Amino acid sequence: MTDFKMKLPLIKLGCIVLAVLGLNLSAHATPDLANGKKIDQEKCYACHAKKSGFGNGDMIYTRSDSKVKNLQNLKTMVAMCNTELRLDLFPEDEADVAAFLNKQFYKFK
Ligand code: HEC
Repeated sequence: MTDFKMKLPLIKLGCIVLAVLGLNLSAHATPDLANGKKIDQEKCYACHAKKSGFGNGDMIYTRSDSKVKNLQNLKTMVAMCNTELRLDLFPEDEADVAAFLNKQFYKFK
């Protein structure tokens, strides 16, 4: 009896770990494009509009001398802007923005 009681917290912990893992997996399977769009508008658009000199924050993604050549580049670039500028995005948010940018602008397979 005592034996089982002592294992209960462990079992509970196991359930929590599984639940968190499950959430993460489902977040990766279906990126939240609406969330990605919101983040782009709130955190990325204004600076890109200014720094690119286009006055339009979308155009940095469609400029002819784009630094981004494939999906991996895109993820790296998003991660770079995120960490360099300390925007403090969660990995899920980063994935959402990358997915949104790809769907909207880059259209890599
Ligand atoms: C403080 C300014 C600033 C912020 C904020 C910023 N960026 Fe950038 N970003 C830049 C600059 C400057 C470049 C161009 C870098 C270069 O040409 O090497 C760039 C380039 C990029 C590119 C590559 C564009 C291309 O096709 O060449 C991507 C993708 C990108 N940023 C994603 C993001 C995302 C996503 C966010 C928000 C989560 C973000 N950035 C926030 C300054 C910023």
